[in-house]
Amino acid sequence: MNSPLSKPKKASWEPLKETRSFIKEVVGRFETTGAILPSSKYLARAICATLRGDREPWNILEVGPGTGAITREIARVLKPGDTLTAIEINESFAEHLRHDIQTKKEYAKSRDQIKVQVGRLEDIQGTEIYDCIISGLPMNNFEGEIVRQIFSVFRSLMKPGAPLSYYEYFAIRNLKYPFVPKLEKKRLREVSEIVDEEIKKHQIRARKVWMNVPPAVVRTLILKPAR
Ligand SMILES: C[S@@+](CC[C@H](N)C(=O)[O-])C[C@H]1O[C@@H](n2cnc3c(N)ncnc32)[C@H](O)[C@@H]1O
Repeated sequence: MNSPLSKPKKASWEPLKETRSFIKEVVGRFETTGAILPSSKYLARAICATLRGDREPWNILEVGPGTGAITREIARVLKPGDTLTAIEINESFAEHLRHDIQTKKEYAKSRDQIKVQVGRLEDIQGTEIYDCIISGLPMNNFEGEIVRQIFSVFRSLMKPGAPLSYYEYFAIRNLKYPFVPKLEKKRLREVSEIVDEEIKKHQIRARKVWMNVPPAVVRTLILKPAR
C-alpha cells in the first residue's frame, strides 16, 4: 500500500489506448482484422508456448501482429540470436507497432531483433526461411481459396519440422453457421473443409484459452515433417 506521503501511482491508460486504436481500425476493415478486440495476455502466452524451451536461435515470422498484443509476448521470450519479422497488411497498425517497439520498455531488451514490414503474407518471397510462424490471421473471415493459399505460403516459408501456431475463436464456425445466409454457409463449409483437413493431418497441440474475448483455441501444427 502507498504510505500517505508517497505519491499515488498513476493509472496506466496504455491498454485502453491500444484497444481504442484497434477498434478504430476494425470499423470498415473487419474482413482483414477479424476481431473486435486485441488478444488477451493469456492468449498471447499460450501461443508463445512454442517459443519456450531449450533450442537454437530461430528466425520467427509473426503474421498479422495488429497493435502488438502477441508481439509483446514474443519479444519477452525471444532468445539471444533469434530474429522476429512481423508482417502486417494494415499500415496504421504497423506504424503503431513500430512506434511501440522503439519507445516502450517491454521491447527494450529485444528491439534490435525485431523488424516490422507492411505487406501481405502472400507476397513474401523465398522458401524455407522460418523456424517458426505465429499467426493472428482471421482465417475464418476469408474465402476458401485464400485460406488454401495462406496454408500453401506457410508451407513454402517454413523449414521442415517448423511449428506454426495460430488461434481461432472457439467453435466460431459452427456457432455462426445456422444464422448466416446461404452464400456465407457455403464459404464457412469450404473454410472448415480446408482447415479441418490441415488440423487432422498436422496438429500436434491444441489449447483452449477461456480468458479472451471471445474464448479461443490455440493450435500448433507441423505442416512439413522434419527431414
Ligand atoms: C485478428 S487480428 C490479430 C491482431 C493481433 N495479432 C492480436 O492477436 O490481437 C488480424 C491481423 O491480421 C492482419 N492481416 C489480415 N490479413 C493479412 C495478410 N494477408 N497479411 C498480413 N497481415 C494481415 C490484420 O490487419 C490484423 O492486424
